Amino acid sequence: MNLKNEIASAIKSAVEELNLGDSDKIVVSFSNRPELCDFQTNFAMLIAKKLGQKPIDVANSIVDKLSKNENYSFSAVMPGFINVSVKDLSDYANYVANDKDLGVEQVKNSRLVFFDYGGANVAKELHVGHLRSPIVGEALKRVHISLGDKVLADVHLGDYGLQMGLTILQLKLDGFVDEFFKENADLKDLELKNVTMDILNEEYPKASKRKDVDKNFKSQADEITLFIQQQKEPYFSIYKKIRELSVKEIEKNYEMLNTTFDFYYGESDAYPMIDKTIQIFVDKNLARESEGALVVDVAREGEHIPIPKKSEDEPQRYKNPMPPAIIKKYNGGDLYATTDIATILMRNAEFNPDEIIYVTDNRQSGHFEQVFRCCKLAGISPENQKLTHVAFGTMNGKDGKPFKTRSGDTIKYKDVLDMLIESAEKKLADNGIVGDSELARKIGVGAMKFGDLSNTVAKDYVFDIDKFLAFDGKTGPYIQYTIARINSVLAKTNFKKGKVAVSNTDERNIVMAILKLNSSYQVCYDAYSLNALCLATFDLASAFSTFYNNHKILTETNVSKRESMLALSLLVKNCLEKALWTLGIDSVEKM
Ligand code: ARG
Repeated sequence: MNLKNEIASAIKSAVEELNLGDSDKIVVSFSNRPELCDFQTNFAMLIAKKLGQKPIDVANSIVDKLSKNENYSFSAVMPGFINVSVKDLSDYANYVANDKDLGVEQVKNSRLVFFDYGGANVAKELHVGHLRSPIVGEALKRVHISLGDKVLADVHLGDYGLQMGLTILQLKLDGFVDEFFKENADLKDLELKNVTMDILNEEYPKASKRKDVDKNFKSQADEITLFIQQQKEPYFSIYKKIRELSVKEIEKNYEMLNTTFDFYYGESDAYPMIDKTIQIFVDKNLARESEGALVVDVAREGEHIPIPKKSEDEPQRYKNPMPPAIIKKYNGGDLYATTDIATILMRNAEFNPDEIIYVTDNRQSGHFEQVFRCCKLAGISPENQKLTHVAFGTMNGKDGKPFKTRSGDTIKYKDVLDMLIESAEKKLADNGIVGDSELARKIGVGAMKFGDLSNTVAKDYVFDIDKFLAFDGKTGPYIQYTIARINSVLAKTNFKKGKVAVSNTDERNIVMAILKLNSSYQVCYDAYSLNALCLATFDLASAFSTFYNNHKILTETNVSKRESMLALSLLVKNCLEKALWTLGIDSVEKM
């Protein structure tokens, strides 16, 4: 049931009866004066000039034709708008209540969409910069699920770089892996004794600092990195153990954020395809040598790349065309672009998705543009496959600068989560709930996610824990609280199922809010951003609060009216829960 389409087709018939032409240009949108009407169209204004008539006259003649419509009332208003209101929203409410998708209109052609987000690096501790990718990526994936696409998600671990060589070298020097180097060591049965995540979190930064001042140390680490790539023992066995340990931890960290993946593949999984990938570019004459490296020219004729402006009044500047993509360096190292290209090759061989969506911070925009162009040039990505980079902005502290600790260090991922959970626990304690750390996680994490996703993905935003955790306002906890409130009303009755009969403005506003919420899914789908869904979810919760404050549900004596109010409350709860699920936020029973 698509009300906008129904209205558009009613207007279309009228326009065709009147022979006004251009009936394919009718666009119906939500009213920007909701107190006057529900929908509007400026179609009459659009065609008036061509017809040589006044817009208001055109609008009036269309409205005259529509005066007998059963479901909608139409009116013409200056200078030539057609306002539309739904006579009774009960039908829509009951339709949504009985629809398996709760009225969220499904895409016409379901596609297979492959998501690449997360991108944690093995053996390196996650920090605050790693939070947005799983938050945004998971929510975008769920938007696609809610609209009926099939999805697959791969975390694409950074498990192949110098960090692995550095970590293993440091462990070796500190005596953590002696058994692996003993003669006749049975590598299959060896465990990494005494090596914990805490040890790894100390060893890597230590090695990373040393490599900057100790050339010999750095070249040893380079060598070990190469050994891992060549699967040379015992390095390869140690590497696999570290990866295992680290991936378990990474998985736990993502689960804290309700983020899950179909695949825990890493850059290393593409490694066997690197040579073949390079060969494709060589065979197709797309690669040329440059200063000992192999590069692919991806810039297009006459292209200028705009440099983002720092302020509105700054003149637009352009930079040189896209630099060539480096697919092979003289020493073989640093194959970030080639790895991503090889990964696309593999994904296409196995799944051939209609679209691949990458979610990373905006500093990687150039990288992905190069990778995408390479894949199109070489035919690795078929013409009709969409490759999309969703680039997000930085999470800043209250000072507007990247979020750091007081001493200026990068904040750890875990510390952010602990902070959220602790603050949520305090808030809950104020409400008399103590000792429920899972509830606190749901609320703390929900608060951060809703705060994050309420912004356009591309924008930087300020991490403000007090604002995010407020129990009223445009926050996650407010939505969760609204659901908990409905739960407590429903728990006091034995209501199971009933029909909604919309009988006043407050109820009407709720159903309109549901209608808008349901159309916001498509907005998010098209924009690769979640802010529209967050806002519409808040609007529904707040429409419910108004209704709840103005009407007594439990003490209503008219039985059918009471049933209807309960049915509407249940509907709101279901719609809010679906929206929160899509955002990757837990609903809660009570709080
Ligand atoms: N591991 C990378 C990093 O930390 C992010 C991976 C992004 N995904 C990709 N397919 N390149 O920068």
